[in-house]
Amino acid sequence: MLSHLLHLEGVESVVIEKQSREEVESTVRAGILEQGTIDLLRKTGVGERLDREAEIDEGISISIAGESHRIDFAKYTGKQVAVYPQHEVLIDLIAKRLSDDGELWFDTEVVSIADHESDNPKVHYRTADGTEGVLSADFVVGADGSKSLARKLITDDGGLRMKHEYPFAWFGIMVNAPQTAPELIYATHPEGFALISTRSENVQRYYLQCNPDDTPDMWSDDRIWEQLHLRADSDTVTVSEGEITDKAVLRFRSAVTDPMQRGRLFIAGDAAHTVPPTGAKGLNLAMADVCALAPSLVRAVKKSDTSLLDTYSERALPRVWKTQHFSYWMSSMLHSVPAENEMSTLFQTNRRLAELSTVVTSDAGRQLLAQQYVGWDFPSIEAL
Ligand code: DHB
Repeated sequence: MLSHLLHLEGVESVVIEKQSREEVESTVRAGILEQGTIDLLRKTGVGERLDREAEIDEGISISIAGESHRIDFAKYTGKQVAVYPQHEVLIDLIAKRLSDDGELWFDTEVVSIADHESDNPKVHYRTADGTEGVLSADFVVGADGSKSLARKLITDDGGLRMKHEYPFAWFGIMVNAPQTAPELIYATHPEGFALISTRSENVQRYYLQCNPDDTPDMWSDDRIWEQLHLRADSDTVTVSEGEITDKAVLRFRSAVTDPMQRGRLFIAGDAAHTVPPTGAKGLNLAMADVCALAPSLVRAVKKSDTSLLDTYSERALPRVWKTQHFSYWMSSMLHSVPAENEMSTLFQTNRRLAELSTVVTSDAGRQLLAQQYVGWDFPSIEAL
């Protein structure tokens, strides 16, 4: 998206991607787009297939031990979300960049980044056949994921990396089955959390809370269906079953890097911050980062004015922290966690259920959840 935004303003960029195009276009990831992401894709000419194929949702259900509460996004925010998986967004962006003659170097690994404190930073790379090369540019952006090489240059130089670990994880499955419900269901139950999401009329995406060190072989199909029915069925909903085509454990982590820049090096998306999956904010937060970054880079390249770039971190980080808070809040409110003894576990559980009840039974609570779920306004790219 950053490369696409820069191109729209006539600024050249090269995207260096370690994986093959096929891998990027097929990796299973989360599936919810905030209103800001939907608007950005539409406004910049990459929303056509989204508009044709995505399911648009105006609410979610929160199910508490089988009792369902709807959070009405349309009523509380006037906004919607799209169920459109991340790899579909990537397919659309890659096609657009290639049709605009963009430089996308797949199967190419960045070996090191050098001279980012000078006016002429360099990226050393290696292609799949082992050929090494150096690319020099005016600026380098590390959008290189949670194991970011670019981030290390910032943290080695005094940048902070603030972290939180969670005592639970998700077991995610892909299923060939009809849709369970018209909207997503976030279910909490004494046995743990479950999420009922979708990919299409015939393919569903379900998640179950599990232990962080669980492996897929610990989850037989029978155990999966028993737990999904137990946690997510209600008076009106029965989880639909079918052939399971993918099983994977997703770790829960939060991390924030501050600052998100050093010299002529900038980091964006998971390279800068990781959120746990509850609420599906990762891609959306990355999109908001690049909306803050793109106009600043355009101004720096076209007008030799770096004043906006200098404040990139300051402008991006408040949203990063608000999103961290939302993902943490949703995660802690919906998952069951054993404490050090039975009375302490009971205390934590009852407090958590009271918090959830406060949220889902009041207009103020439902509105607070809805506003955060659909996402805050994006940084304006009009300055481009
Ligand atoms: C999906 C993932 C999430 O983390 C979430 O909160 C909602 C949906 C998904 O993959 O469909």
